[in-house]
Amino acid sequence: MNLDQPSAARMYDYYLGGAHNFAVDREAAERAIAALPATIAGARTNRAFLQRAVRFLVETGIRQFIDLGSGIPTSGNVHEIAQQIEPDTRVAYVDIDAVAVTHGQSVLAGNKRTAFVHADLRDVDAVLESPDLRRVIDFSEPVGLLMVAVLHFVPDVDGLAGILTRYRDALPDGSYLALSHMSMTGQPREFLERFEAVYANTANPVVLRSRDEIAALFEHYELVEPGVVTLPLWRPDGISYFTEDPERFPGFAGVARKRG
Ligand SMILES: C[S@@+](CC[C@H](N)C(=O)[O-])C[C@H]1O[C@@H](n2cnc3c(N)ncnc32)[C@H](O)[C@@H]1O
Repeated sequence: MNLDQPSAARMYDYYLGGAHNFAVDREAAERAIAALPATIAGARTNRAFLQRAVRFLVETGIRQFIDLGSGIPTSGNVHEIAQQIEPDTRVAYVDIDAVAVTHGQSVLAGNKRTAFVHADLRDVDAVLESPDLRRVIDFSEPVGLLMVAVLHFVPDVDGLAGILTRYRDALPDGSYLALSHMSMTGQPREFLERFEAVYANTANPVVLRSRDEIAALFEHYELVEPGVVTLPLWRPDGISYFTEDPERFPGFAGVARKRG
């Protein structure tokens, strides 16, 4: 682990007010906030989307989740939200960041319905064949696959389309994909260029896709209402962190069912 280089997991932890970050992460996070003032509200809005999507999926009948790029555990983790509704729900967390994984494994120690796997989501075999993941995920039952605020760290040249196909093929019918993704659509170009420049010097450079490119990530899935929209507009529940026009949020999200 290179602790001289900021990481997306620890910067995000800082945006959310967590304690699992180092000076190098805090400095980079402050540069990102200066570049894009909506960064902190954006992180909270993203977390709130994740929680609404998980509640929706549990209410739809999903009882097991794979959370790719789960981040450093913070309040309102997927298993906490899901198990409030259905205590038997199982969750496999996966992250590339060693601090996220070490902290996650210690927080979840002894919790038999959860696992925390240290893997790169681009290495689909390592994720899907992980014995820890297999301990909690049963691939004969529908799965909720979460890719929330993570695919903007995976460039097309890393084979994103093929990676998505492999995960989709592994999911049983009746499974769902929920994802959110930062975007430049509708944003002042200079904000986003500065934001991209901050992340270019971290362990996780950012790729800001357009709304149409994000919608295309759901190929071969059936989107649930309201489709691919900015995060505050996905089934809002009245709790809002983003004070500007919700149409102008710098990211899009959706939830979709695998086509049978
Ligand atoms: C912005 S955080 C999002 C955390 C959480 N999904 C959420 O939405 O609240 C992005 C996370 O993705 C992780 N990440 C980035 N690239 C990854 C990869 N290739 N494989 C697994 N995790 C990755 C980072 O380490 C970080 O923890």
